Amino acid sequence: NWEMGNFTEKEIIRIRKLVGDKAQVIGAVSGGVDSTVAARLMKEAIGDRFHAILVDTGLMRLNECQEVKKTLQEHLGINLTIVDGGELFFSRLAGVVEPETKRKIIGETFIDLFEKEAIRIEEEAKETHRAGKVEWFLQGTLYADLIESLSFKGPSATIKSEGKHLDNSIILMAITAHHNVGGLPARMMNGQAQLKLIEPLRELFKDEVRAFGRQLGIHEDLVMRHPFPGPGIAIRILGEVTPEHVEIVRKADHIFISMIKEAGIYDQMSQAYAALDTNRAVGVMGDSRVYGMICILRAVTSVDFMSAEPFEFPFQLLKNICRRIVNEVDGITRVVYDCTSKPPGTIELE
Ligand code: XMP
Repeated sequence: NWEMGNFTEKEIIRIRKLVGDKAQVIGAVSGGVDSTVAARLMKEAIGDRFHAILVDTGLMRLNECQEVKKTLQEHLGINLTIVDGGELFFSRLAGVVEPETKRKIIGETFIDLFEKEAIRIEEEAKETHRAGKVEWFLQGTLYADLIESLSFKGPSATIKSEGKHLDNSIILMAITAHHNVGGLPARMMNGQAQLKLIEPLRELFKDEVRAFGRQLGIHEDLVMRHPFPGPGIAIRILGEVTPEHVEIVRKADHIFISMIKEAGIYDQMSQAYAALDTNRAVGVMGDSRVYGMICILRAVTSVDFMSAEPFEFPFQLLKNICRRIVNEVDGITRVVYDCTSKPPGTIELE
């Protein structure tokens, strides 16, 4: 519509003025709608001086990394680097079962890899004299993310956001809670980079970002995509995060989501996923007892993700989904559906 069109143009002009005609901008992308829309906008405003970085944690969904690459690089023409971090993430997560420890390890590993890539981009620019310094860090923060983060207290230091001083805690919590790159700008501030935050979506609500995304030519499937947490499948495994466990979750999740899409009900829910309880449950195969792990299915409806209700599946569909998962995914002998509301439950399991 007219208003959104106006927003795109105004925002592009604003970004160009802010960044100038030499500086470079980096940003983490995940394949989700917020970071894709923000990246697309940067591309429109400053072309290849924007560098999108996708850290492949090895904890993303089936074929997700290739799909993000296809969309961002081939379809939207964004300057994208994929950092292959799978092995490092798995080695650091070995033996860890405590949820907060998992999150912390993933956050730190993410920052390590991201920082290394940012430095590489900077050095490359220096060598080729093609562009200026990396001065900005793009963040796809929405209005709701900022509001939600106001309730957290953090360090009192300030960092600059688009020239204005903002309370560090607000920004860092927004990043930590929603993108899982907590501490990134602050740490880079301490180094050479002196990154300033640029947040083109900070005044928008989710439905506005979606409308904006459509207008920027982003595919409908991506625009309507359910959110996916930064720590990925790791927080959907109760127990140790191993490549084998991740593989099982990927297969089960793929069956679950495909069947939801085939039933035409994907857009009726806000989020849906398969998770894994690595404890053993018994099943029968022929005339012997076999032990396998438990797949937990969760699907919710929510307006703002602060509260949520379990999605009411037609029971026959739910049974069909369970049957396919047990039959097709080795290692699973049971499937359960999580009917907990939020509160008291949360959307994710850990
Ligand atoms: P909870 O589990 O707190 O989730 O009810 C609310 C929403 O936030 C997402 N979520 C995360 N997103 N990094 C993220 O990027 C995280 O660490 C994280 N934890 C939860 C969750 O998927 C849901 O949409």
